[in-house]
Amino acid sequence: MLTSSRLSLDRALLRRRYLENRNRSAELFAIPMPSAYYERPIPLRHPVVFYEGHIPAFSFNKLVREALGGPSINTELERLFERGIDPATVNEASRHERCAWPDRTRVQSFGAACDAAVLHALAVADIEDAAASPLLERGQAAWTILEHEQMHHETLLYLLHRLPLEKKRLAGRRGSFVEREPLATGRVAIPRGHATLGALRNQPAFGWDNEFDEHVVEVGAFEIDVNDVTNGEWLEFVKVGGPLPPFWVERDGAFRLLGMFEEMALPRTWPVYVTQVQASAYAAWKGARLPTEAEYHRAAFGTPSGQERAFPWGDEPPDARIHGNFDFRRFEPEPVGINPQGASAWGVQDLIGNGWEWTSTPFEPFAGFAPLASYPQYSADFFDGDHFVVKGASPVTGRDLVRRSFRNWYRPDYPYMYATFRCASG
Ligand code: AVJ
Ligand code: FE
Repeated sequence: MLTSSRLSLDRALLRRRYLENRNRSAELFAIPMPSAYYERPIPLRHPVVFYEGHIPAFSFNKLVREALGGPSINTELERLFERGIDPATVNEASRHERCAWPDRTRVQSFGAACDAAVLHALAVADIEDAAASPLLERGQAAWTILEHEQMHHETLLYLLHRLPLEKKRLAGRRGSFVEREPLATGRVAIPRGHATLGALRNQPAFGWDNEFDEHVVEVGAFEIDVNDVTNGEWLEFVKVGGPLPPFWVERDGAFRLLGMFEEMALPRTWPVYVTQVQASAYAAWKGARLPTEAEYHRAAFGTPSGQERAFPWGDEPPDARIHGNFDFRRFEPEPVGINPQGASAWGVQDLIGNGWEWTSTPFEPFAGFAPLASYPQYSADFFDGDHFVVKGASPVTGRDLVRRSFRNWYRPDYPYMYATFRCASG
């Protein structure tokens, strides 16, 4: 065992991040009423109970058991909570149904035991000993569990979004309605140039398997909207027969928005959240199309001088107080185009925050792809031609996931996630 002085990872930082994540999880798991604990707000996903067990079980399984070779706490629960599901159909989902989930106190005490073991490992174990396990290379397992939990904060929220309001504890969280006009509108022309996708291995402290290898692509000239398409703009599409967005409800002949904690008059200046299929239909109706992943990069990180930035606004680390609506600034979207300090060099707004951005690019590995030792199935199971890349961040995407190379993906008709889009042409 190497001495801890050899560690380059900051144990205090990892511990703080782990506890911050756990606190946020606790806050989010307090939203559903106890009676909703075994419900599946989304038929294609497990019930709420699964997620409360899954997050700590995953952390324990990866770091303590698999990476460090530690002993089990409860093999049955470690297995039960090992992995979530992404079936294509409700029929397929029913094959994953469990006849009995443990009761909540059992799930929570198992979670607490996982937390204790993880915190102990973060405090004293050699979590960077690559010679002992490939999962420990550069602290990979520790970063894996931290980012995994942040992803589940968002997954959990869009799941709880589907619970009827009377099954949620609102806890004073209402009142998020706000309308404002964007600072700029229209479409900007971006000249031919290059974009760097992916990241250099060993450069970021951590990256998922689908972020490597870094490579440069040529991007032809194109035009892209400064702002995401709003609910108000989508309404015009509905009037000529366009489909209803999944977060809209029709009541007494008027459309309203189903927010996380309240139903509200349709906020016309907010980005519309739709599936990729719907987004493409709207773009086609406008004589436009969705941007590709490479075009998103060029619009977000490119500059007229040819230099590329780490973030749309420059190289300063993401700060949700000024750069955009992410990292839980709100539970809801906000009006498009009101964060000038987060705009890209071309003046394109909201490229990070206020909703993931749909692209037309199928989710595929970059050249040089290799599965991550700590989670080999993370991406590989989804390279099936039926998932598409989304970029950016939603209001409830944690800031640790905000980096240029981060890629997210969903099925083109998946209606639950917080994804918007903008039109491109050329
Ligand atoms: C990368 C967000 C698509 O939520 O299915 C969580 C993340 N993978 N646990 C998902 C994930 C395993 C994943 N996404
Ligand atoms: Fe998971």
